[in-house]
Amino acid sequence: ISLPKVTFSGSFFLSVPNSFHLVLCVLAQEVLMPKLNEASYIAASYVKFLESAGARVVPVMIDQTPEEYKTLFNSINGLTTSGYARAAKIFYDLAIDANQRGDYFPVWGTCLGFEQLTVLTSGKNLLVNTNTSNIPLHLDFTNETADSRLFKGFPAELMKDLASEPLTANVHKWSISTHETNEELNNFYKVLSTNTDGRVEFVSTMEAYDYPIYGVQWHPEKNAFEWRKPYIPHSSSAVKTTFYTAEFFVNEARKNLHRFNSEEDERQALIYNYSPVYTQLNSSFEQNYYF
Ligand SMILES: *[C@@H]1O[C@H](CO)[C@@H](O)[C@H](O)[C@H]1NC(C)=O
Ligand SMILES: *[C@@H]1O[C@H](CO)[C@@H](O)[C@H](O)[C@H]1NC(C)=O
Ligand SMILES: *[C@@H]1O[C@H](CO)[C@@H](O)[C@H](O)[C@H]1NC(C)=O
Repeated sequence: ISLPKVTFSGSFFLSVPNSFHLVLCVLAQEVLMPKLNEASYIAASYVKFLESAGARVVPVMIDQTPEEYKTLFNSINGLTTSGYARAAKIFYDLAIDANQRGDYFPVWGTCLGFEQLTVLTSGKNLLVNTNTSNIPLHLDFTNETADSRLFKGFPAELMKDLASEPLTANVHKWSISTHETNEELNNFYKVLSTNTDGRVEFVSTMEAYDYPIYGVQWHPEKNAFEWRKPYIPHSSSAVKTTFYTAEFFVNEARKNLHRFNSEEDERQALIYNYSPVYTQLNSSFEQNYYF
């Protein structure tokens, strides 16, 4: 399939009511040691990341029925995932379906979310161990980058910095090797950047050829919003990386026309109904939402 072309008049006419209601979902993750009222969480940085680019956020709880997820899917304009497998699969299948019908629905996977996308697309776990737990890296761009949707709008100066300075925080033990030969994966995703741990060269940024589906093994949201770890870069270019990445994805969501059935449903779903908690020393995140 090919991506639907949005004409100027069409997009102008349709995107006015839609962008007024722009809502993106972030999947909650299970907490390692659940407590009363703390079965799942979302790091607030994922929320601020999207808010900083002009979107509002709805949290996706982990214990919903497929029907509830489907209703939510029809109400939101895009999805970002950093972890929870069951909901991620349901939303991924809905997104593939929607996009095939010309209903432009963007999906973003960060880190564990990237890894999940590779499992969902290939139906297999093809991940290999890499020594990339706590390290900022520059991006080795491929010959596909210039033509990519994701990086096209990044300023040339920032692209230069991304290619030469360690601006992307890597916090993962698993990666997809650039030598991976799985056909489903290679036919589905275009590799936009790679990195190496000195032993294994791995894919660090990818976008699907024919779907608005994107994966980064690094953490664009951390540069501007997380301060706990020495490997998170905070330079001006690092923070620009956060914002240009968010701006890209939120703009993708503007092309989707889903909305809630009523403003009341929308109000009840928004993350503003919850308050982030300053975690003090109990988390690697500054602030978390707990559900
Ligand atoms: C992993 O990488 C770090 C540098 O990021 C290095 O200091 C360490 O020795 C590496 N460990 C292994 C087992 O290669
Ligand atoms: C990029 O390089 C690969 C491998 O060398 C090649 O197969 C592919 O056609 C190139 N793509 C572009 C857009 O130049
Ligand atoms: C941090 O953990 C300690 C011990 O479990 C707990 O007493 C404290 O309330 C926690 N603080 C926050 C902000 O969650």
